[in-house]
This record gives sequence, structure tokens and C-alpha cells, in this order.
Amino acid sequence: MAAIVDAHFAPAGSLRGELTAPPDKSISHRAALIGGFGDGETRIERYLDAADTRSTLDAVRSLGARVDAAPGGPGSLTVEIAGFGLRGAVAPAGPIDVGNAGTLIRLLSGLLAGQDGRSFVLDGDESIRSRPMGRVADPLREMGAAVETAEGGRPPVTIAGRPLRAIHYELPVASAQVKSCVLLAGLLAEGRTTVREPAATRDHSERMLRAAGADLRVERDHPSLPTDPVAATIGIEPAERLVLPPMTVPGDLSSAAFHLAAGLIVPGADVRIAGVGLNPTRIGLLGILNRMGADVEVVEGGFEGGEPVGSLRARHGHLQAALVGASEVATTIDELPLVGLLACFAEGTTRIEGAEELRHKESDRIDGVVGALNALGGDAEALPDGFAVTGTGGLRGGEMDSRGDHRLAMLGAVAGLASEEGVTVRDFGAARISYPGFEADLRSLLA
Ligand code: S3P
Repeated sequence: MAAIVDAHFAPAGSLRGELTAPPDKSISHRAALIGGFGDGETRIERYLDAADTRSTLDAVRSLGARVDAAPGGPGSLTVEIAGFGLRGAVAPAGPIDVGNAGTLIRLLSGLLAGQDGRSFVLDGDESIRSRPMGRVADPLREMGAAVETAEGGRPPVTIAGRPLRAIHYELPVASAQVKSCVLLAGLLAEGRTTVREPAATRDHSERMLRAAGADLRVERDHPSLPTDPVAATIGIEPAERLVLPPMTVPGDLSSAAFHLAAGLIVPGADVRIAGVGLNPTRIGLLGILNRMGADVEVVEGGFEGGEPVGSLRARHGHLQAALVGASEVATTIDELPLVGLLACFAEGTTRIEGAEELRHKESDRIDGVVGALNALGGDAEALPDGFAVTGTGGLRGGEMDSRGDHRLAMLGAVAGLASEEGVTVRDFGAARISYPGFEADLRSLLA
């Protein structure tokens, strides 16, 4: 277990400069899994070098893949994986340790469910042991797998692989992890598996599976505006093999969002972030910022790893409160804590509703955000399915606890730079889960 590391972030005079966004976590996990369960060699450039995505490399290694990971550019690895094939996972002697990675445990469950005749145990850290697995165990059981969970449907999870049959699954929650789990199991099932999502969720799995040769079709509903991400029904046929062509992972908007937020609330700031993934199913934050009157420029520019990318520029200025409703939650899910932070600096009361899912992340992010903002002098109130934050023109500062949650740790750092007295973040070290270079990158912007 990593040692607890606290950090202090003093008020910043200003913030200026340009950064490159670190590689995307969701896409890195998927590339390693598809590479491991693929045929032959897969080469991944700009694979995220962070605790979560290292867990995925270790997992596919323990299942029989040969994995070479060499330092790439800053915060990234160049990874070569010799896969064991879609049905060729070897049962390791002990449990597979997923660490803190919810995406890993849920997506891998789908692939393991179809490894006929082999059994696997998936376990992880204290936070993973509190996360709901019934949401993937239910559809996998319906497909014919034997899945056992600990009390309350939590990890450790034991999966006995079986021949699977296709199902039609209506996701009870808008979750890309559950959608991906069922689609991956569908590759190993007999018949055509279809999944219906209640709202648009990130579609990285769909893009990558198609690139790897899967017969996957996405039928999207009609958007009310051409730019709106809308829910889809996805169908997938069983496959003999996957072969992922060499790919480069685009930058992670969810990580870039911390610098973007700092650019909006540190007086005089002007921050640019290059190479950011702008997949329409990930950019709910940009719409919310637009309504808050934030000075954000988005320049779209090309494709990386089958995903649209571009650059962002954020400048400090006046913000107004916004209402965030259920329809925006899935495309903004990991950035909602930052909307809460920004709301402390905005005029009026910002409300986030329909976001009960925040309670099931690496920590309960409704209680975590409200606790942190109030500890720093903010005016925040927890709702059953979100939170309300009334802007007070700024934040005093003080001490907050990351609760071991990487996104709360980084939020505390940004709050510190924009605060009057600075912020000490307890267990700031949790940032290593998704963005080990975060502190150095943020400090490089100090003018
Ligand atoms: C992720 C999906 C989201 C998100 C998580 C990463 C993914 O979770 O919060 O950080 O990579 O598919 P849910 O699918 O549970 O909403």
C-alpha cells in the first residue's frame, strides 16, 4: 500500500502557460484489455503511466499476456502486448489485484465470464471493496456465467467461465463500464448481444472494438440538436479474434479539466491544454462551462486513437451559477466535483441533480465534495442525488481530506491555488491513481 502523502497548495499569484493533457485513463484500460485478449502483438503509444492503468497491465500479464512497457513521453508508456487470444486466458494461481480500478474490474469481468472451464477471483483495495458489482454480475449471470460476490454485491468477485448466450440488456444505470462489460462478454456469447443505454455514455469500447475487427453496430436515437450526444442501442456479434492495430492514446479531458478549472478561478489566469480528447460522449463539462459564462476556447483538431482531439484555453473571469440535470450527468460524471468547486466562485446557486451515481465512485463523491468545499469555507449542501453550492465569491482555504480519491485530491490542489489562505490536502498522494505528474504540471503554470 502506498504511504499517505499530504500536500499544501498556496494561493497562486496567477497561472500561465501550456500543458499537454496526460493520456486518457478509460482508453488506456481498454487498449490493454483488448491487446491482452487479442491475437498477436498490439503496440500502444502514450499509454497512461498511472497506478490504475498499471493494474491493467499486471492483470493481463497474470492471465498470460507478454507485456513490455517502456517509458514514453512524460506520464506515458510505450506498451507492447503479445495477447493470449479472446478465449485463451490462463487462470492465475491467486486473485487478480485490480487495485483501485473500477473500469478494470468491471470490463475484465465480462471477458472472464466467457473463459469456459476456468475460474478467476478479482479483488482490489479498500475502495474497490465498497463498489457495487451486482450491476455487472446480474447480466453476466443472465448470459450463463457463474458469478459470486461478497456481501452486498461487492468485491472480491469469483467468476467461473462458462459458454455464454447472447442477451438483450437494458442498462438500469447509464454506465459505460456496465455497457462495456456486457459487450465484451457478447464477443464470447452465442448469438447477437444487444445493449440499450438510458443516456449516452462514453463509447470508447465501441470505437476500439470496431477498430480491432469486431462486428459491432451502434444505432443512435435522433438528437434534438445535431451536436447532442444521445443514447444508443449497441449490437455485437461473437468474434473469433480481436486484432487491435497500433494506436496512440489521446489526452484525458477528465485530467485536463483540473487545469482548465484552475484557469477559470485563479485571478489573472490564462491556461492552454493541448492534445485533449473531445469525444462527444465525454464533453458535458464544456456545455456546463458555457452556461456558466466561462471564458473557454475549444479548438478541434484531428483524430488520435480513433477519437476526436483538440486544444482548450481557459481564462479567469466572471462565472454564474448553472443547473445541471440528469441528462448531462453521464457525459460529465467525473467532472461534476469540479463543477462544485467552480460554483463556489460563481454568482448564485449551482444545483446538480440526477447524479446519485456519484455516491458509487472511488469514494462517495457527493459527501466528499460537500465536505471538502465546506471545510474550505464554501457553502455546499448534499442532496440525495447531487449537491447545491452557493457562490460566495471565493474560498477561504484550510484543510480537506481526499478520502483516498484521486479526483478529490486534485480538486483540493486547484482549490488551494484559487483560495485566500491555501489548502492542505490530506492524502494528496491519491492523485497517482490517474495522474502522477499532476502536481508538477499544475505548479509549472505558476506565473
Ligand atoms: C468509466 C466510466 C465511468 C467513469 C469512470 C470510467 C469507463 O464509470 O466514472 O471513471 O472507463 O468506462 P461508470 O461507467 O460506472 O459511470
